[in-house]
Amino acid sequence: MCGIVGYIGTKSALPILVKGLRRLEYRGYDSAGIAVLNQQSEKNSETTIERVRAVGKIDNLAEKLKTMTLNSTMGIAHTRWATHGGVTEENAHPHTDCSGDIIVVHNGIIENYRELRSGFLKDHTLRSKTDTEILAHLIEVHYQGDLRLAVQKALQHVRGTYGLVVMHKNEPRKLVAARLGSPLVVGVGDKEYYVASDTSPMLAYTQQVIFLDDGEIAEITDHGLQIFNLEDQEIIKAAEHIDWNEDQAEKGGYSHFMLKEIIDQPTVIKDALRGRLVEDEGTAHLGGLNMTEAQMHSVNRIILIACGTASYAALVGKYAFERLAGIPTDVEVASEFRYRDPIIDRQTLVFGVSQSGETADTIAALREAKRKGAYVRGIVNVVGSTIARETDGGTYIHAGPELAVASTKAYTNMVAVLLMYALQFGRTRRVTVATGQRVVAALREVSEKMEKILRQGDYIKMLAEKYQHYKNFFFLGRGINYPVALEGSLKLKEITYIHSEAYPGGEMKHGPIALLSPDFPVFAILTKNQLYDKMRSNIEEIRARQAPVILIATEGDEQAKELADDVIFVPPTMELLEPLINTLPLQLFAYHMAVLLGRDVDRPRNLAKSVTVE
Ligand code: F6R
Repeated sequence: MCGIVGYIGTKSALPILVKGLRRLEYRGYDSAGIAVLNQQSEKNSETTIERVRAVGKIDNLAEKLKTMTLNSTMGIAHTRWATHGGVTEENAHPHTDCSGDIIVVHNGIIENYRELRSGFLKDHTLRSKTDTEILAHLIEVHYQGDLRLAVQKALQHVRGTYGLVVMHKNEPRKLVAARLGSPLVVGVGDKEYYVASDTSPMLAYTQQVIFLDDGEIAEITDHGLQIFNLEDQEIIKAAEHIDWNEDQAEKGGYSHFMLKEIIDQPTVIKDALRGRLVEDEGTAHLGGLNMTEAQMHSVNRIILIACGTASYAALVGKYAFERLAGIPTDVEVASEFRYRDPIIDRQTLVFGVSQSGETADTIAALREAKRKGAYVRGIVNVVGSTIARETDGGTYIHAGPELAVASTKAYTNMVAVLLMYALQFGRTRRVTVATGQRVVAALREVSEKMEKILRQGDYIKMLAEKYQHYKNFFFLGRGINYPVALEGSLKLKEITYIHSEAYPGGEMKHGPIALLSPDFPVFAILTKNQLYDKMRSNIEEIRARQAPVILIATEGDEQAKELADDVIFVPPTMELLEPLINTLPLQLFAYHMAVLLGRDVDRPRNLAKSVTVE
């Protein structure tokens, strides 16, 4: 996720900005840049904007800066994690308007940037492929000597999310910062201000901070800070004292990246859906598919290739493609697929599903599929990764950088994107507008339902305390919840090192039931869907073997309490969307168990975040 740092005060800006960028490195980035308003010398008071950008590590940027004399006490800086446009110096922030007098750094996504580029701003000279550059040009259009007012007006054209900081050469002692959906914090020091996407770059200098809220614009000068809303009314906010250390600040105050990423899910799922759902037509539009309608109609088989957690997200996709689009769909674990002789032809559509986009087995499997003539597309998180580059189209899941080794928010965003693809294909085949509209509406409600589950964090922690001494667990689900059981089991084993098995509920009596005893708790997903009664019978069989039962059940299901030792209630949703809800309690359970057992939650033993070897 991109990072912003800004400074205005009495100290030399450059070391503060570079150090601040280093504090933001944990967020992940692929390029970095800096801009300062440079006063030539005491005698020559002319102000110029100096901008330096570099692809890759901050060291590359620092190396370039060494050769320059940048004499300034204010500036802005940015680490970019590509979302629109490749990883190039031209696409790195800060970006300028046509004149080069306005300079902006931005986090978030401007959804309507294409329309603005080819419409309202068609006479402007755009130098990058980013959505951010649009902002500099919109501000240019509205600038009449007051930067804050110009930013306010510019933002009225924009659909999407932003946290941004802007400078103008003609107002050399002013920073303007604005927020909608992408965090910004102002640090208040002694005759100086810091502004950043989180508190980590400023904690070495001040612990007095003001968190900007959505729709607020801050005007920061040497003389003070004023905050306004988009209607130009001033908002009075007092600074608050925070006593996080820098490490805590990186994690947004959470003790681990994994917990932060679990908590991020209601926010990042909106990023996956943003601009892709079409309410009127009851469909989704994933432009990156790069297939004509005729090609879409010709597809008679889908193969989803992935590893680990991504393969469980893919399994949800299989149910969705088959149910909504009626297209036979298989999930293939990449390491197996690449060494089989898979039957693929020109009517087969293959999706590679991968958070990193760098998993060696998935890359090799996709190359094989391409060689055999299939349509090959990617569903990937990391922009510009190998899978993103080597496939002929596809979709970014927009989960932001995932830093904990155990995948959480990437899983839910993969599921969301797969559901949207299934809907898009379904609407060209058998799904009616009305059904499509119900899916769209249900997808829109997921974020709020996720919040509801996260509010049960303390209860789930209490369950982890109760069950922490067990050495074995079963996870059971049926239908769309079988992949949820697989994912819950994988989360538990990879971060707690506790043995766990996942099975479809109906399979237990064909062997695994022999393992059951009072020492073998069973986590079962019993939500109100078409397999409710079947799953209920499976749970009765388990209870008869005295195994402790923990249920994930739908709110209001009183019978669930009678069946189980413990129940986690979840809000109801459309059956196909249940994995987006039901997986969250399992992530939290695994997380709390790992913490209680003293495991290295973010870096479990023997595992790597990106498996780039076979
Ligand atoms: C588990 C986990 C792994 C990955 C797998 C694929 O929490 O993270 O199972 O899902 O290694 O990685 P990507 O999605 O990067 O291809």
